Amino acid sequence: MDNIPVFKPLIEPEEIAAAQAALEMGWLGMGEYVGRFESALGDTLELEDRHVVGLSTGHAALHLGLLLAEVGPGDEVITPSFNNIADHQAIWTTGARPVFCDVLPHTLCVDLNKAAELVSPQTKAIIAMDYACGLCDHNQLADFAVTHGLRVMHDAAHSLGSRWEGCPIGSFSDLCMFSFDPIKTITCIDGGALVVRSEEEKERLHRMRLIGMGQSAEVMYQNQRAWTYDVAEPGYRYHLANLHAALGLEQLAKLDTITATRRATCRAYHDAFAELAGLDVPMTDFDDITPFLYYVQVEADRREAFCQWLQERGVETGMHWQPGHGFTLFSDCRRGDLSVTEQLARQIVTLPLHSCMATDAQERVIAAVQSFFKQG
Ligand SMILES: Cc1ncc(COP(=O)(O)O)c(C=O)c1O
Repeated sequence: MDNIPVFKPLIEPEEIAAAQAALEMGWLGMGEYVGRFESALGDTLELEDRHVVGLSTGHAALHLGLLLAEVGPGDEVITPSFNNIADHQAIWTTGARPVFCDVLPHTLCVDLNKAAELVSPQTKAIIAMDYACGLCDHNQLADFAVTHGLRVMHDAAHSLGSRWEGCPIGSFSDLCMFSFDPIKTITCIDGGALVVRSEEEKERLHRMRLIGMGQSAEVMYQNQRAWTYDVAEPGYRYHLANLHAALGLEQLAKLDTITATRRATCRAYHDAFAELAGLDVPMTDFDDITPFLYYVQVEADRREAFCQWLQERGVETGMHWQPGHGFTLFSDCRRGDLSVTEQLARQIVTLPLHSCMATDAQERVIAAVQSFFKQG
């Protein structure tokens, strides 16, 4: 019997055909598919007054977003310690320092009351992340930014397809990033995107993603390039490539199915785990949510035995994440009260969740979890 992995990309004949077509086209780098992917993503997000820029990774999107926010040496950026290391490293890469904030116990997203206590004259921005299958309070976040005069980097790596008060995630934030890495809800193998509000920020990103070259994106979207150009500011090799975008286009077209099937699996887990004493499940009914990851919380002193029990039954588990404030690199960084984060770090377990997850895999996960708690 095969093990059930925590993540499994949905690679079907459409993705394979798209990859082949992109390879056969012979223009592998930044080109036509990137332009098409950006406009398809803009349509999915129902963008009216914002622009999508395709990038090589979510980390690149975070880095460039912080640079647009003028974050640099001497500055501070508040973000949950309970966040992906990509966020903490993106802050570090600008020369600024992360300031570690706690999360709320019911959403595992940033606690803005605690964040308010951390604002200093050096604070330039906040990175708020929608975790797993939950969302930040985006109204409170927007108010927080106005009150403290901060830019908001919305990390939506986990929430593509979800809606906040009816509006697609990605359609209302100051700066909003997505990741399309190999395990994400939709994948480009590796890819990312940043959604910005102004033409000016879009144009700057076009240069920054192409090592500073002032190339016309419109020309590049025709699989062409200019041989003469100016370089007026620092840049990075952060653009999305045709092959990756071709895959992403096929995945985007399946977002409704991806949402429906992931939601159904999460609801089946919820129903099956509701009565289990000693296990906490995410506090959501999954309405308006495209779940990326399904986590449970297990009493700290039983977590290892729980994961071992599941492993013996062919069910793999993950742990998202080790909090950032514990890493050596960040040992000197400022932090507030992190009591919720500390507790979470000892309790959190990720269970397998796939798009179009096979029913027998789902049943095996449920049976393994139930049997652990029923054995007493
Ligand atoms: C919340 C979050 N932000 C950012 C990233 C970084 O994205 P990428 O892997 O595309 O660089 C990830 C990746 O797992 C993530 O989970």
